[in-house]
Amino acid sequence: ENAGDDAILKLPPWSTSLGQPVAATPYGLPSKYETAMVRRQSPGLTQVAGSSVSFMPLQGMFGIITPSGLHFERHHQGWHDIDPSRHRLMVHGMSEDFVRKPKVYTLDDLMRLPSVSRLHFIECGANTGMEWGNVAVPTVQYTHGMVSCSEFTGVPLRTLLEDCGADLSKARFVLAEGADGSSMTRTIPIELVLSGEVMVAYGQNGEMLRPENGYPLRLVVPGVQGVSWVKWLRRIKVGDQPWATKDEAVHYIDLMPDGQHRQYTSIQEAKSVITSPSGGQILLDKGHYNVSGLAWSGRGKIKRVDVSFDGGINWVEATLQTPVLSKCLTRFNVGWDWDGRPAILQSRAQDETGYVQPGYRMLRAVRGTRSIYHNNAIQSWKVAMNGDVSNVQVL
Ligand code: MTE
Repeated sequence: ENAGDDAILKLPPWSTSLGQPVAATPYGLPSKYETAMVRRQSPGLTQVAGSSVSFMPLQGMFGIITPSGLHFERHHQGWHDIDPSRHRLMVHGMSEDFVRKPKVYTLDDLMRLPSVSRLHFIECGANTGMEWGNVAVPTVQYTHGMVSCSEFTGVPLRTLLEDCGADLSKARFVLAEGADGSSMTRTIPIELVLSGEVMVAYGQNGEMLRPENGYPLRLVVPGVQGVSWVKWLRRIKVGDQPWATKDEAVHYIDLMPDGQHRQYTSIQEAKSVITSPSGGQILLDKGHYNVSGLAWSGRGKIKRVDVSFDGGINWVEATLQTPVLSKCLTRFNVGWDWDGRPAILQSRAQDETGYVQPGYRMLRAVRGTRSIYHNNAIQSWKVAMNGDVSNVQVL
């Protein structure tokens, strides 16, 4: 038994032979050993994969940036790799009173305009939507994987409206339309555009957008649910009333307990989740753990995150990893000594407006259990005596 460790005593091939040449993979790929870090579909969630969602593996990610190849995907009618030389963006108004000089931009036109780069999260309104009534899925990838965070680069939409001679005193809403077969059209309130935050983006994490995420153009609407971030953006129309399109009058509405629907509930309220340890993982032994997770708010910056290890009786304040940016993922960490007894781990975010993430009891008292969208309830992970971590709901 004193033979020692071969991994130290015997030289492996990578210490005794020539390695791969540079540019062997002109566009780099992850290690072949990193097979678990992939986007996943939830079996049976939708009838066809062309109109479905793939979830990002947040249980295994570090920091706040989502690698572009792992960004979650949500398509209503599949994705295309659009030839950028044939893509156009039209900007016009309900009439010339709204936009004096309607224009059609090529990608080259847009890239000559002043650009900005900003880090923001995008969360589908349906993220955590399967959990409204009861525990439904086992892992954080499926409970919370419809969120991602990137640095986006593009032209503020306000700049384009000014370039087209839009009357910004008359304009109250813009309509954004995508070029895919789903006729994705969404109404955006003009206040968001005037703030300068809404962006017509071509860049993501330092490179062009990925085709799945809207190459070559997508709308970036910080703080607002993902459906308004129209991909393959081809048209912006300026008007004075919401358009009540199919994707805002019939879909993406919140069913209330009294049977009424709420429309135009677009902002993603403060939310957080512990990503490690999380459902499906196993704690190998009692002892020290770094409990880590993500928090975000569609209304600004995260102010604090509290973590409980006993199902919400006692709370400790977690450390927020800098930078803490507005409408961006924020990483939090807190140390925990597991004594080997069953435990329930939870995180609770508060944003700079003072809003505190609700528990399931509080959220369901107002919203009921039959909704799909905007479930920002506190997530609970149960640690069993044998170290198994599972999804539970604690009221
Ligand atoms: N834009 C178009 N043109 N077509 C779409 O199907 N899906 C929307 C939105 N923009 C969609 C779209 C929805 S519902 C979401 S949640 C986000 O894109 C998802 O963006 P992602 O695929 O880059 O994660």
